[in-house]
Amino acid sequence: MNGASNSQILSDCSADTLAVAAKALKEGALVAFPTETVYGLGADASNESAVARIYEAKGRPADHPLIVHIASMEDISLWSKEIPIYAISLARDFWPGPMTLVLSRSEIAKDFITGGQESVALRVPAHSIALGLLRAFRSQGGFGIAAPSANRFGQVSPTTAEAVEDEIGIHLASKDYILDGGPSMVGVESTIIDCTKELPRILRPGAITVEMIEESTGLKVVKDSTTEIRVSGSLENHYSPKARITLDALAEQGEGFIAPSSISTPKGAIRLASPKSVDDYARDLYAALRAADAQGIATIAVIQPEGDGLALAIRDRLLRASRGR
Ligand code: TXA
Ligand code: MG
Repeated sequence: MNGASNSQILSDCSADTLAVAAKALKEGALVAFPTETVYGLGADASNESAVARIYEAKGRPADHPLIVHIASMEDISLWSKEIPIYAISLARDFWPGPMTLVLSRSEIAKDFITGGQESVALRVPAHSIALGLLRAFRSQGGFGIAAPSANRFGQVSPTTAEAVEDEIGIHLASKDYILDGGPSMVGVESTIIDCTKELPRILRPGAITVEMIEESTGLKVVKDSTTEIRVSGSLENHYSPKARITLDALAEQGEGFIAPSSISTPKGAIRLASPKSVDDYARDLYAALRAADAQGIATIAVIQPEGDGLALAIRDRLLRASRGR
């Protein structure tokens, strides 16, 4: 642990506590909260100076757009004016859930949220604490909570409240909160789908897969990697621990090792995770990368999961992480 956090960590997330946290958001504080994917660092998406504090706490360039988290699908129309029919099917089928929709923005989605783009990213997370916070915030007059992953820019997303504290605790203030909802169940960030064109396009793979999107919409997903939209997760070195990552090689003596449980640990290697399924792999990956850094391990050998769907999202993150800092 890096130790010092100035903010308050709340692990009793009762309705009263969530009302207090929602009020703090309304007053311009930051609230880190659990979601099913990873923990987010939240601010009132309509408050420019509160949003500016997210960028400071993360050390993130200020022109990168943020995801606005909303309490329910009905709130799409607050943030977006043109919603294609296929986006409505996606929202109906997969919200609350690990999916972010990029839509053309309404006038309440300001440049400080969209990075000056004409689109806004929206998500309804599937986590009782996140939803409780969003509903409390809505009932106090708020429209949405802007929240990037609660890590320093370029680093591994946090999947526990302790990891949030390690990452950004010292950059928070005494009026800010970290809500503790236990480990995130999905473990990798949401699938981001561009819904501003005739056909859906995946900007970041996640637990909502191409097959699921095609089944829901009856449309072909565009698999075009050239994108004029700025997605910070598309930067080459991202999701990176301090340790160097080597892909699909066995670990040497003293190196960390992450591999499916069917692969045994090479002699002298330090096993960091033995996931039994792709779901386990996603859920445990970021904690394993953090554990390696905490133990001062210099190199982590990773045997990647095979297949499509969530395995593809895991390989996407590992490839970026392996490009290092
Ligand atoms: O699972 C998640 O999505 C988590 C949890 C907290 O919800 N959030 C998350 O946020 O991963 P962040 O900021 O770390 O990554 C969001 C990505 C960024 O790469 C950003 O560039 C992209 O979403 N994004 C946001 N608004 C966008 C927009 N209007 N168009 C295209 N990409 C956008
Ligand atoms: Mg992030």
